[in-house]
Amino acid sequence: MMVCEYKPGLEGIPAAESSISFVDGQKGLLEYRGIRIEELAQKSTFLETAYLLIWGELPTKDELSAFEEEVNMHRRIKYRIRDMMKSFPESGHPMDALQASAAALGLFYSRRDLHNPAYIRDAVVRLLATIPTMVAAFQLMRKGNDPVRPHDELDYAGNFLYMLNEKIPDPLAAHVFDVCLILHAEHTMNASTFSARVTASTLTDPYAVVASAVGTLGGPLHGGANEEVIQMLEDIDSVENVRPYIEDCIQRKAKIMGFGHRVYKVKDPRATILQNLAEKLFTKFGHDKYFDIAQEMERVVEEKLSHKGIYPNVDFYSGLVYRKMGIPTDLFTPIFAIARVAGWLAHWKEQLAENRIFRPTQVYNGRHEASYIPIEKR
Ligand code: SDX
Repeated sequence: MMVCEYKPGLEGIPAAESSISFVDGQKGLLEYRGIRIEELAQKSTFLETAYLLIWGELPTKDELSAFEEEVNMHRRIKYRIRDMMKSFPESGHPMDALQASAAALGLFYSRRDLHNPAYIRDAVVRLLATIPTMVAAFQLMRKGNDPVRPHDELDYAGNFLYMLNEKIPDPLAAHVFDVCLILHAEHTMNASTFSARVTASTLTDPYAVVASAVGTLGGPLHGGANEEVIQMLEDIDSVENVRPYIEDCIQRKAKIMGFGHRVYKVKDPRATILQNLAEKLFTKFGHDKYFDIAQEMERVVEEKLSHKGIYPNVDFYSGLVYRKMGIPTDLFTPIFAIARVAGWLAHWKEQLAENRIFRPTQVYNGRHEASYIPIEKR
């Protein structure tokens, strides 16, 4: 067996062959099934993009209508999951509530039939349909309120905002949110997708696959960065404080949240689209001083760190968009998860199609032939 050189974080090591998405980190290019993200953001919807990612082709009009209908029909969550959420501490992080709820869904569908296309489609529909309802339900319940039922007349994005805020969303806000979901849906072999594939490769159920990926996404170096960015902008609090803040981070070799990427060495194309969406929202709903601070940060970081390929990533502007929609900061990462379920499910299907359980090796740097020393002699 050929042993490759060890690379921390498996940097640059292919973990799978995949046709789902493609990133060119030097050109700042992202494609889903070959279609540029800019075109999908402009012309598609999240459910249509999820269909494209999962089944590999854009759906016909009838295929899309049937898919939307099935997802709409499955938006409600089991009352037992709502009852379970009632025992969650209000102070708990919504990502932990989501991970527990996604895993709990598997309790209702424990019969695994991974070779049956109908079973796969059912699991895809159920997970895409219920994850937003779980996020919204926990938000209302941790405030002491009953969750609201999904609104059958609203589309995927509009319904989530309705379940979260208990009112029909502004059409621009619903559209912008839908584009945010498209932008966050998939991104090749990121940490949470890698988790999903490793979990899928053991032939466990798709609910465990998604629960595993949710747990991975929550970290501040991955999906949790969007929440950290808002905290950072609030700490900086004025444009004048930006330069000293960044100089201090560089001095301390501290990571600046929302910047840098393992693959992109230019500005993340998703950050550019999110920046433009933020401007649209601020024009309609009023300016946000944190947007000025963010843009000054981008200018100063480019001046000081562009030689290292450090530019804004997807997490840098997304939080400002969600804040303008009145979404609490600790829901930003669960929203990232709502979108990324589409990518995780696409990779789950692709892994099953030509599966081999992940079992990498290691470089052992420990001892050999050590003796057991009795406790009285230690
Ligand atoms: C996402 O993989 C994906 O595709 C993820 C994602 C997706 O869609 O799934 O795109 C979503 O996770 C975006 C990233 C969100 N995370 C953050 O914004 C957290 C801050 N970013 C960093 O932690 C970092 O940039 C990573 C984790 C994203 C990538 O880190 P790498 O590739 O491991 O880079 P590194 O730590 O080896 O750093 C290389 C150099 C170092 O300097 P030197 O030691 O060589 O002098 O770049 C510097 C780092 O200090 N650097 C940063 C920096 N990121 C890297 N310096 C300041 N601020 C940063 N954010």
